[in-house]
Amino acid sequence: MEPISRRNALILGGLGTASLLAGGAGLVWSANSGFVPSTAQQLTEPKALRSVNGALKVTLTAAEGPTRIAGRGATALTYNGGLPGPTLMLRPGDRVNVSLENRMKDPTNLHVHGLHVSPNGNSDNVFVSIDPGSSFDYEYFLPKDHPSGVYWYHPHHHGMVATQVFGGLYGAIIVEDPIPIPVARERVLVISDITLSGSGAIPAASAMDRVIGREGSLMLVNGQASPQLKARPGDRERWRIVNACSSRYLKLRLDGQQLQLLGIDSGRFPQPQEVTEVTLAPGNRADLLVTAVNGTATLQTLPVDRGTAMGMMSGSVTSSVPVHLATFAVAGAPAAPLARVPAQPSPRDLRTSSVDGRRELTFAMGMGSGGMGMGSGSSMMGFTIDGKEFDPARIDTIVQGGTVEEWTLTNTSPMDHPVHLHVWPMQIVEQNGLTANRILWQDVVNVPARSSVRVRIPFEDFTGKTVYHCHILDHEDGGMMGIITTN
Ligand code: C2O
Ligand code: CU
Ligand code: CU
Repeated sequence: MEPISRRNALILGGLGTASLLAGGAGLVWSANSGFVPSTAQQLTEPKALRSVNGALKVTLTAAEGPTRIAGRGATALTYNGGLPGPTLMLRPGDRVNVSLENRMKDPTNLHVHGLHVSPNGNSDNVFVSIDPGSSFDYEYFLPKDHPSGVYWYHPHHHGMVATQVFGGLYGAIIVEDPIPIPVARERVLVISDITLSGSGAIPAASAMDRVIGREGSLMLVNGQASPQLKARPGDRERWRIVNACSSRYLKLRLDGQQLQLLGIDSGRFPQPQEVTEVTLAPGNRADLLVTAVNGTATLQTLPVDRGTAMGMMSGSVTSSVPVHLATFAVAGAPAAPLARVPAQPSPRDLRTSSVDGRRELTFAMGMGSGGMGMGSGSSMMGFTIDGKEFDPARIDTIVQGGTVEEWTLTNTSPMDHPVHLHVWPMQIVEQNGLTANRILWQDVVNVPARSSVRVRIPFEDFTGKTVYHCHILDHEDGGMMGIITTN
């Protein structure tokens, strides 16, 4: 082959430049043809519906249709026309009636994630199926000693959970403190991700999305992109944060501000913990105090390594760049100091108590019956607990009510799985062979790739049939769910 002359090399170089420019122009074009969020709006919050005299009655209408996301027109799934759905503000001892109307084309249902309520009948029963065009009346009774904290609601119809949550169906639930914590303001921040096309539609999930767990390219806080929050120096705020992402882990930072974590999920720490970042697996919530420091801070989420999807898949499933979630602008005259945070009740601790039973649950991923190849349709990957995919007709675990069990959650796969149990919170007692050095009560417990976490669970107050599952919702839909009955 003839050596390339200097002149030809220059031409080739020129061509290279030309194609790079074309590539650049292509990027601009595709950005313009994609969804362009409107950013830097003042933060808005979902409508708050508050119980009165121990009762709250609400109607939630799940529908597919036009709505506003990130300040633009989009087509998504919504409760009552927007996303997130309204925030339910409750108190221990409340009765809550939710009438859920399904105006979508697929069946749905409702789950009140983290609430310690009955899983039976028309309470938090995930086996209910509400057909398109029909409705169902849920009724929940919160015990008088229900833990205060941040909870949330979302659909739980097996096989459709990822698509319906990713599509926009989620809302916060707050169970208020018997003794309020003095703050300048409380905010509810529901963090989610979504992917929208140029016309504002949600593309169908790919087979790869179903294996890795779909992550949206657009991060939302209360349905807004990079909103603005304002405060005065010295303001103490209480942020109720929900990770409503279908698969994405959040590692939240707000550098330059003073953060104290009151608790995660229903677990409240005896003392607020000074923190610089908060990691939330899908489904986890944080109850956070932010004391404002003069200046402009960025609420961002940093990449979280959640493993790889298997040898032959693309390497890491981690999104590799920090994402800007919101701007916290602190300026003006300093706020008057507030009264101290009242002492919190000391949480129950099962680390040294005796247990009535032990069992191990093994979470695994393997080649499904479809074999290799990334065809459309069902996932090639099998998601199992103890070697079995979810079967609505099978009871996997039978527990005696009133007992305390220790469960070893073992993950043999190369990806993390955030394990969630309904109705009964779990106390983490051991992670990778190390005894937990604090009291940690959570309802979603991340089990890192190829490791084990040990939890203790008091199966108290309720009996009945419910589920545990991976809260990467594509994994749940893919079969990583089991049925538990408490007698
Ligand atoms: Cu948030 Cu069974 O789910
Ligand atoms: Cu749940
Ligand atoms: Cu999983």
